Amino acid sequence: MACTIMQLTEHVGAEVRGVDLREPIDADTHAALNRAFVAHHVLVIRDQDYTPENFKTAAQVFGELQQHDKKEHHVPGHPDVYYVANDEIVNGKRIIPGETFHTDHSNHPRPPKATTLFAVQLPSRGGDTQYVSMHRAYDDLPQSMKDRIKDLRAVHVYQSKYSPRSLGKIDAASLQDIPPPGVHPLVRRHPENQRPALYLNPVRIEAIEGMADRDALALIEELMAHATQPRYEYRHRWRHGDMVIWDNRSVMHQANPDYDMAERRYLYRLMLKGTAPIGI
Ligand code: SIN
Repeated sequence: MACTIMQLTEHVGAEVRGVDLREPIDADTHAALNRAFVAHHVLVIRDQDYTPENFKTAAQVFGELQQHDKKEHHVPGHPDVYYVANDEIVNGKRIIPGETFHTDHSNHPRPPKATTLFAVQLPSRGGDTQYVSMHRAYDDLPQSMKDRIKDLRAVHVYQSKYSPRSLGKIDAASLQDIPPPGVHPLVRRHPENQRPALYLNPVRIEAIEGMADRDALALIEELMAHATQPRYEYRHRWRHGDMVIWDNRSVMHQANPDYDMAERRYLYRLMLKGTAPIGI
């Protein structure tokens, strides 16, 4: 195995070099990359050079592809390769996909285990993606809070009426295929590393079962303020050639709209199938 894997921060992130995921890889490299993904939650795989089809091949080193809710948001000519970009304006407001902390597609009964981006066009400065460890955030909670939230379940819809941002346009055909809301534990056990993690998403959570909305919102706000502290964070500064893959069971993430919007930020995006979250 020729590739190197180097930890980036204490809690989140590792950098991978010396591998070309356009090509088949040997069993040892495959196992090492998947182990690193589960241990470090975010992998930054440098110096890649992908067509949309290459990107699909690379993503499948880590699992099976899952369709996005907005099926129309695909790379032209590649219906199963999606993208994020900064060029959608709705009612005069620019939509920045992923602008506030969240975990992906948690409205699904079986949310995606992973999401991956490949940088195609980047602004000359800014546009970083931030990741926070939901394992460490959970570990550091006071025992009284752990006891309070241990059996709570949240209802995740496509877009919560309390969402801090709009998800932009979705066409009628995609809307029709949105699954029924996912009802998930606020604390989930990771099926591979077995660690407990907070499972939060203010964009999608519309209720907590058995709780008045006002109390549910206050609780989510308190947990979000705790989980998004800089001490739990890895901040990714994009470079050309970066493929970044993250574990939605372990981290939340957000995109930064802090760059010149006259410049295009355009990344291919794929998700990988996951399983129903299990409580602790
Ligand atoms: C996303 O939330 O999937 C997009 C993140 C990014 O564009 O940095």
